[in-house]
Amino acid sequence: MIQSLSRRTLAPSKPVGTLADDVREGLLKQPMTLPPKYFYDAVGSQLFDAICATPEYYLTRHESALLARHADAIIQHVRPDCLIEFGSGVSRKTRYLLDACPRAEYSPLYVPFDVCADVIDTAGNELMRHYPWLKVLPLVGDYGAGLGNLALGGSRALIVFLGSTLGNFDDESGIEFLHEIRHTMRAHDYLLLGADRVKEPAMLHAAYNDAAGLTAQFNLNVLEVMNRELNANFNLQTFRHYACYNVHAAQIEMYLASAVNQEVAIADLDLEIKFARGDAILTEISRKFTLPSLDNLLQRAGLSRVAHFATPDDAYSLVLARPDHHPGFPRLVK
Ligand code: SAH
Ligand code: AVI
Repeated sequence: MIQSLSRRTLAPSKPVGTLADDVREGLLKQPMTLPPKYFYDAVGSQLFDAICATPEYYLTRHESALLARHADAIIQHVRPDCLIEFGSGVSRKTRYLLDACPRAEYSPLYVPFDVCADVIDTAGNELMRHYPWLKVLPLVGDYGAGLGNLALGGSRALIVFLGSTLGNFDDESGIEFLHEIRHTMRAHDYLLLGADRVKEPAMLHAAYNDAAGLTAQFNLNVLEVMNRELNANFNLQTFRHYACYNVHAAQIEMYLASAVNQEVAIADLDLEIKFARGDAILTEISRKFTLPSLDNLLQRAGLSRVAHFATPDDAYSLVLARPDHHPGFPRLVK
C-alpha cells in the first residue's frame, strides 16, 4: 500500500489579508501591485518548476551546484535533527542536503513549508518514497502571516530558504521576515539562505524573459487566479509580461502591462478597474544582492554569517547564518 502524508497548517500569528483584501488594496493604489504569493496555485507552481529548467534561469543550476559541493560540510557543521524549509516548492534541491544526512549519520525530520498545498503534497509523497528513512511533516501556510505559531522540531534545526526567494521581499519586509525567523531560532539553530547576486543586466534580463515564454505564462497566471477565485474577467490576451532590471534598486521588476484601453470587472469585489494602454501591475520584485548588502540584511535581523559559498564568478551565493550573541560559536569557513 502506498502511504500518503497528511499535512498540517500553520495558523497565522499576525493579521494577513485575504486574496480579496490584497487585490482590492493592490489594484486601487498607484502603482498597482499584487503580492507574489498568488502566483503559486497548482499551475503556477508547475510553471515555476519549468522556469527552473530553462537555459536562461541560471539561479537553480547555480544553487544546485553549490549544494552538491557543500552539503556535506553544511550538514556536518550544523548536525541537524530537523530541517525546515520555507517556500520549499518541489523540494528538489533539498535532496542534496537530505542525501548528506545519512552520510553524516543523521536522520532528521524534514518539514517542507509552502503556501501551495498541491506542490507540498506532491513533493512530500515523492520524498517519502525516495527516502524511506526520512520523517516528513509537510506544513502549509503563509510565511508572511507570522511565525509565532511555528515551533522548530528537535534540538538543532537547519532552516532552509533557497531559490533567492528572499529577493521577493523589499528591504523592510525582508528584514522583518528574517527577524521573525531569528526569533524562532534557538542557540544551536542555523539558517541556510540562497541569494542571487548583482550581475550584468543582460543575464538578469534573459533569466526573467526566457525564450520559451514560461516566465510570461507564470506572470499571467496570477490573472487566472483572480478570474477563478474572485470571478474577475481579465482577458489574458490583452496583458503583456514585462520584466526589466532596475540597476539603481538592484532588482528585477516584473509587471503585467495592459496592451489596450480596457475595463476589468472583479465581480466578487464589486469592483471595476480601468486600464489605459500601458498601465501596469507590479507583480514581483526579485532583488539581487552583494555580499555586503546580504550581511547588512542579516545583521539588521540579528543574524550573523558563519559561512559563505559562492559560484566561481560570484553569480550566486549560499550563506549559513546563526543568531547573534553566541560568541562561542565557531565559524565554518571565512
Ligand atoms: N525553494 C524552491 C521554490 C522557490 S519558488 C526553489 O528554490 O526552487 C517560491 C516558493 O515559495 C513557491 O513554492 C511558493 O509557493 C512559496 N511561497 C511564496 N510565497 C509564500 C508565502 N507567503 N508563504 C509560504 N510559501 C510561499
Ligand atoms: C521564487 N522567486 C525567487 C523567483 C525569482 O527569481 O524571483 C520567482 C520567479 N519569478 C520569475 N521567474 C522566477
